Amino acid sequence: MKVFGVDIGGSGIKGAPVDLVRGELADDRYKVLTPHPATPEAVIDGVEEVVGHFGWSGPIGATFPGVVVDGWTRSAANVDKSWIGLDAATALRERLGVPVTLLNDADAAGLAEVHFGAGRGHYGTVIVLTLGTGIGSAVFTDGKLVANTELGHLELDGRDAETHASTRAKDEEGLSWHHWAHRLQKYLEHVEMLFSPELFVLGGGVSRKAEKFVPLIKGVRAEIVPAQLQNSAGIVGAAMAAAAAAAADAGSDGPAAAPGAAG
Ligand code: BGC
Repeated sequence: MKVFGVDIGGSGIKGAPVDLVRGELADDRYKVLTPHPATPEAVIDGVEEVVGHFGWSGPIGATFPGVVVDGWTRSAANVDKSWIGLDAATALRERLGVPVTLLNDADAAGLAEVHFGAGRGHYGTVIVLTLGTGIGSAVFTDGKLVANTELGHLELDGRDAETHASTRAKDEEGLSWHHWAHRLQKYLEHVEMLFSPELFVLGGGVSRKAEKFVPLIKGVRAEIVPAQLQNSAGIVGAAMAAAAAAAADAGSDGPAAAPGAAG
């Protein structure tokens, strides 16, 4: 079965049809740059271009870098504030003319990692963190997602954690791997104190360089592993959520329940 996934991020809007049996992209992904300001209208233009590139006319799953409840976008840390309080799933559906399921970007990446990647086969509490412009979080207990956890906005050293420990903070402040790993360690210790996970899966582009910083993180009891699906995780997870929504509409179980998502 193939469903289309679109990952709306702070820097790019990427999409591809997804093979949901294998949990991989069924075609090369297509990307457009995220417009600035990233208003709903401008971002939806980008999504339309990505979907149009493939001539896709079936159901679509899309991610959003903020809180999504029943298709409504409720926060916007790294996109235009006019997303807050928008029935974004309906706006996308009206523009694209196909069913659209919308969910938080880290929740989507987490679904993909837990079902097809680094979190596969792990039970208990698994936390997937995406390290990028912001810090996204997806919390799973026995494979079930608790949506919209927003752990990137925990307080760390008196600051919003993502402004301190994201890869954007590393780049903008020119931090060494050691310095950044130390901040990340303090952040992970804090999350561990709250949730006692068995496993942290670290995603985002920086997960490709895991050997440079994961070994520097000490004192965290949970196992720490890099994400495996890397830059396709959001696309795959979005498609999984859309398939789950379609299956729920049809009255059967899909490959993954995705609370917080809505079609
Ligand atoms: C947002 C989250 C998002 C994360 C990664 C944070 O600023 O609040 O919803 O998952 O960035 O994009």
